[in-house]
Formats: sequence, C-alpha cells, structure tokens
Amino acid sequence: MSTTANNTNPAAFLPRHVAIIMDGNGRWAKKRFLPRIAGHRAGVEAVRNVVQACAQRGIEVLTLFAFSSENWRRPPSEVGLLMDLFMTALERETKRLHENNVRLRVIGERSAFSGKLQEKIIAAEQRTAANSGLTLVVAANYGGRWDITQAARAVAQKVEAGQLHASQVTEDVLEQHMALHGLPDPDLFIRTGGEERISNFLLWQLAYTEFYFTETLWPDFDGRIFEDALASFARRQRRFGRTGEQVEQEQGHKGA
Ligand code: IPE
Ligand code: IPE
Ligand code: MG
Repeated sequence: MSTTANNTNPAAFLPRHVAIIMDGNGRWAKKRFLPRIAGHRAGVEAVRNVVQACAQRGIEVLTLFAFSSENWRRPPSEVGLLMDLFMTALERETKRLHENNVRLRVIGERSAFSGKLQEKIIAAEQRTAANSGLTLVVAANYGGRWDITQAARAVAQKVEAGQLHASQVTEDVLEQHMALHGLPDPDLFIRTGGEERISNFLLWQLAYTEFYFTETLWPDFDGRIFEDALASFARRQRRFGRTGEQVEQEQGHKGA
C-alpha cells in the first residue's frame, strides 16, 4: 500500500466504475421481525442514495446486482414479490433517473421475465439512453457464467457463419460480446451483508477489481460507508502484474 503517491492526484483515485452486491436485505428485515420483502423495499431506498452519491461524485458507472440467476431458487412467493418490486421501482424511479441525467442499462437474461416487465425495461432504457451522466447498470437474472457463455455462443455463431476465424477469437473479441461491453471494468467491488464471495457476479470483468467487504446490511448502506469504501480504494496500489516500484515510478511521471 502506498498513500504518498496517491495524494498527488486525488481524482485519479476515484473509481470510474463501482460494482455492488447489495446483500443482507432479508437479515435486515428478520432483525426487525418484518417479512423479507420489507428488507427488499428498504433496499430500494439505499439504491436511491448510492445512485445519487455516485452521480454527485462524478463516478461514471455503477453496477448493482439486483437478482442473480440463482435467486430463482428462493421461495416462489419471494421471487414474485421481487419481480413486483422491480416493476414498481422501474415505474417510479425512471423519471427521477432521467431528470438526473442517468442512463439506465439492464444486464442479464431477460427472456425469463414477464412480457410486461421486459417492456418496462426497454422503455426505461430507451427513455434514458441519450443521458450523459452516470451509467446505472442493473444486473437482473444475471450470472457471470451465463454472461461468459452467451458471449462465447455469439462468437461461435460468427465463426460458424464464416464471419470470423477461430484464430481471431481474442480476449477483445469476447469482451465485445459480454454484457458490459463498451464500459470500463469495475475498479471497486463492494459487497454488503458480511459474506465474502462473488456469488456468480461479474466473473470476467472483476479480474483486476479491488474488493471491499462490509458487515453492513444493504438497507443500512449510506454515504458514510460508501466514503469508507472509496477511501480504502484510494489507499490501494493497483499493480496489474507489475512491481510496486514500477507503479510508483509511473505515478511520479504523471504527477510531475
Ligand atoms: C440481497 O439480500 C437481495 C437479493 C438477493 C435479491 P438477501 O435477500 O440475499 O438478504 P439476506 O442475505 O437473506 O440477508
Ligand atoms: C447475491 O446475493 C445476489 C444479489 C445480491 C442479487 P445472494 O444472497 O443471493 O448470494 P448467496 O446465495 O448468499 O451467495
Ligand atoms: Mg443474501
């Protein structure tokens, strides 16, 4: 860890892309003797706050894990209520997002959603498509393995059609077919709720991301905890395979 070099240019130590596993809604509700869905509802409030914090700070991309491809394994009643909540959140929040110049993008396998929900997603994406502020990515029915698989399938189809030679299948080509194509990889990953695992989130894109875990349950996530995560990120030295000396030398050049 090196703090000295970081002070030369604080903006360089703000993540461009923050990815969050919003975990702990159920336990938050349980502690209050409330049904799990009350925790999910409170979680929507926390989303509103973190979106605002990212927009204010000039963070370019915020990716939120809202529903994993494995969350279908939950009781059908909870899944149904989560779908309803997703729908109402889209209905209620899109206007606010648009007013705040936020561009919404939803990633994941949408075909599993109801036709009505799919329409709402498309409408919200289209309405906010031209916005130039924060890009908010919501991962819904998303799985990292699904993402890599669908990218591989799309590339294989191009090879099959003779548009691409197998030897031309590079990391860049695969990246262009991944759900987050065109956006920088996450710099900072945050998981609330105390678990320290990826749970099939962005497997490909987290290759060099800095991880931050907090015991805080998602509905309790606020600006202070976000600041702690950003401060922790700013103190880290990202080496991408190089030595610490090489990185310091490079930062010295940039700061000069
Ligand atoms: C995260 O909170 C939200 C979703 C997975 C939809 P959980 O519902 O997983 O909360 P815990 O982990 O049971 O507390
Ligand atoms: C991960 O949380 C998915 C989301 C936050 C949407 P889970 O609570 O489903 O993860 P596991 O099952 O504990 O790993
Ligand atoms: Mg959980």
